[in-house]
Amino acid sequence: MTVFAQLSDLHLDGGEHRLERARRVMARLNAMPLDAVLVTGDIADHGDPAEYAQAREVLESPHPVLMCPGNHDVREPYREVLLGEAPAAAPIDRVERVAGVLVAMCDSTVPGEDHGSLSEGTLAWLDRVLGEHRAGPAIVCMHHPPVPLGIPYVDEIRLFGEEGLAGLLARHPQVVAVLTGHAHTPAATTFAGLPLVVAPGVVSTLRLPAEAAEVIDPAAPPGAALHVLDAGRLTTHFRTF
Ligand SMILES: [Fe+2]
Ligand SMILES: [Fe+2]
Repeated sequence: MTVFAQLSDLHLDGGEHRLERARRVMARLNAMPLDAVLVTGDIADHGDPAEYAQAREVLESPHPVLMCPGNHDVREPYREVLLGEAPAAAPIDRVERVAGVLVAMCDSTVPGEDHGSLSEGTLAWLDRVLGEHRAGPAIVCMHHPPVPLGIPYVDEIRLFGEEGLAGLLARHPQVVAVLTGHAHTPAATTFAGLPLVVAPGVVSTLRLPAEAAEVIDPAAPPGAALHVLDAGRLTTHFRTF
């Protein structure tokens, strides 16, 4: 049995309030015997180096921490400050094998835009890394959900061009689920015949039109998802902290 925690949308802005929410989540996750912590983007709010310095500190963990950027992130300072690498503008696609599970962290961002899309390069990379791990299981993560979720505010800036991803996933039946962030709401749906799970937001929660006229709920507590992978099947438990 493998247990991954997923947190998303920290939107660290250099201030104490958001940092404290992220610290609260990480303190609890760090005390659990997890196999890895997955962070699905919008780590910084403006992409400033000072925000990534906060992120580097708060995401310190005894567990492996795997990350991908969101639309609020900026690739060059993300690489330089958060990853300790040379700044570069190319997509930040990463893959790790954790306890026999392939975890692909895909860069779904489009620089300067809020909506998401997977570049030809990222799709080719994902096809290759999944092809090298056919025995599975595999989990595919990215910031933007590739389907509408019923929150117009987010649906307008979801991942588009999702047919390419769907076609790719159909060639790799060892993928057990797609995990995303961006929508700041714990949600479950399907995509390409697979479970698609959306992590709650650390910074805030977004509401459905049926719940309230005001979309953003900044007072809701920060949350995370706990994904249990057993015998090729994913079960997700949502928690608030
Ligand atoms: Fe976000
Ligand atoms: Fe986002």
